[in-house]
Amino acid sequence: MRIALVGFGSVGRALAAMLPVRAESLYRAMGLAPRLVAVFDSRGAAISENGLELAALAAAKDSRGTVGALAPHGIMLSGPNDAPTLIRDLHADVFIEASPSNLASPLPAINNIKAAMSSRKHVVSVNKAPLALAMPALLELARHNRVEFRYSGTVGAGTPVLDTARRLAQGDRITRIRAILNGTTNFILWKMATEGAEYAAVLAEAQKLGYAETDPSTDIDGIDTATKVVILANAVLAQSRGGAAARSTMTDVRVHGIRNIEKSRLQQAAARGNIVKLIGEIDLESDKPALTVSPQEIAAGSPLDTPRNLNAVQFTLQSAGEVTLVGRGAGGPETATAIIRDLVDIWNTPGAHE
Ligand SMILES: NC(=O)c1ccc[n+]([C@@H]2O[C@H](COP(=O)([O-])OP(=O)(O)OC[C@H]3O[C@@H](n4cnc5c(N)ncnc54)[C@H](OP(=O)(O)O)[C@@H]3O)[C@@H](O)[C@H]2O)c1
Repeated sequence: MRIALVGFGSVGRALAAMLPVRAESLYRAMGLAPRLVAVFDSRGAAISENGLELAALAAAKDSRGTVGALAPHGIMLSGPNDAPTLIRDLHADVFIEASPSNLASPLPAINNIKAAMSSRKHVVSVNKAPLALAMPALLELARHNRVEFRYSGTVGAGTPVLDTARRLAQGDRITRIRAILNGTTNFILWKMATEGAEYAAVLAEAQKLGYAETDPSTDIDGIDTATKVVILANAVLAQSRGGAAARSTMTDVRVHGIRNIEKSRLQQAAARGNIVKLIGEIDLESDKPALTVSPQEIAAGSPLDTPRNLNAVQFTLQSAGEVTLVGRGAGGPETATAIIRDLVDIWNTPGAHE
């Protein structure tokens, strides 16, 4: 399986490091031999149809700051149209999109995905922005070109949230999903609740620990959770009602974050035996799902009462009741395992490779 990868940061590099480690077991189990034939970062690309030498690739990135410096396979990119053109012309079976999720300017990633699909390459994306903003169109393009489109790392990173949702929707009806999908906000609310600390102090600590960005708006204003709610809702609807039902985008989500949340609000909740969590909720009772993100009280000690920066997703099923999945929702190696799951799925899809 020849793979082209865009993004050589924490996820891309973790994947490149993990592929050789997993190579033998993947080949033995199913004859799958993934081979990176192209890697792009923001400035350059390294391309070799025989497969890139991964240690040399990492060394070029470390020493020169771009994979474009890898001799003799590296090239520097001169403009935004270079990557889609190169991707279209590549001899690759799968394209992996692992550049940053930028809701304000998602076009480079969307254009790369479109270039890959229209040149009949399967696509794996861990980048949420193209999915949150253009999922219906991308699903349609994948169908039209008869390629696989996988994105299990976009929600829950290594925790298989989407796979679990699809599986549950095969055997039962999911009526509601309530989820903690952002580690930063969970860490802030958990610290405030357990230590009685003020919002600003905990946010500063989260930034120091690397859990929160210097500009934490996307997390604390609920936008990151909203992107994942859209992807999750569409994945469930595509499974349960067919691909055409997967029509939600970011504008369908009512979003309230936790910016400047008062300590007193958490204390009042505690007096009622509750804790406050930033909950992404998907109500699937009606034809059009209702999508919300808001701070909500849940019973202390209930399955969604998760500590630190863990993620948790609770599915309410018509017949089987409640099922809750808990796990880490971020991390380069964690997310790389989701990409490998997606590659395995593509490999095992009838007709997806010859
Ligand atoms: N890290 C996680 O825990 C996690 C979990 C789930 C999903 N994700 C998603 O995975 C993606 C990658 O995350 P990350 O943590 O690996 O990010 P990262 O460490 O910031 O790395 C991003 C990589 O993308 C490259 N890049 C930036 N703009 C580009 C462009 N226009 N064209 C080509 N490459 C470009 C960067 O190039 P330079 O090296 O030249 O700067 C860098 O190599 C994001 O969409 C993120 O939301 C991450």
